[in-house]
Amino acid sequence: MDNLTIVKHPLVQHKLTLMRDKSTPTAVFRQLLREISQFLAYEITRELPMTTKAIETPIEAMDAPTLAGKKLALVSILRAGNGMLDGVLELVPSARVGFVGLYRDEETLKPVQYYFKAPESLENRLVIAVDPMLATGNSSAAAIDLLKQQGANNIRFLCLLAAPEGVARMQEAHPDVPIVTAALDRELNDKGYILPGLGDAGDRMFGTK
Ligand code: URA
Repeated sequence: MDNLTIVKHPLVQHKLTLMRDKSTPTAVFRQLLREISQFLAYEITRELPMTTKAIETPIEAMDAPTLAGKKLALVSILRAGNGMLDGVLELVPSARVGFVGLYRDEETLKPVQYYFKAPESLENRLVIAVDPMLATGNSSAAAIDLLKQQGANNIRFLCLLAAPEGVARMQEAHPDVPIVTAALDRELNDKGYILPGLGDAGDRMFGTK
């Protein structure tokens, strides 16, 4: 699949297995998600533009590499996105942060926006949208629509698990948005859950059910 990166690092895969296990308690699930998010963030930021700046080490002057351009923007797709946000922010603490809230209209089955708050100047930033589960892809695609309407033109999508249906939907709607994930699972069930998956990420993260 084009534009899809699966991070197969052994530590990521080991932690993901612990997260999938239904006997893993809420607090451990949340901690693992934070840890995996850092590995995934490492991958998704691999090609950030760089420049140099003149500094002085205790020994001599040098032109040292540093990130170029405006601070990147992280956008959490509520509510499960918040579980990834914490981990990514630990790696990129100066990032600006936005939130997108969408719910599914039970009649039209279409995503409806209930909250949106984004950093300014999205058009000049790399925008990383985070949501652990790329399932049908409908809400992810709608969230990316919103970000593009606000001017974002350099967007990447970070998730923990992806279903082939969700990847296909995103690639059809937003072929310009690279996706980074820890695993591409088999399929969706008739309720839109990823198989084998890990259940409802929000419920497992926040202990709701
Ligand atoms: N959202 C979840 O939390 N889990 C799934 O399996 C699909 C969507």
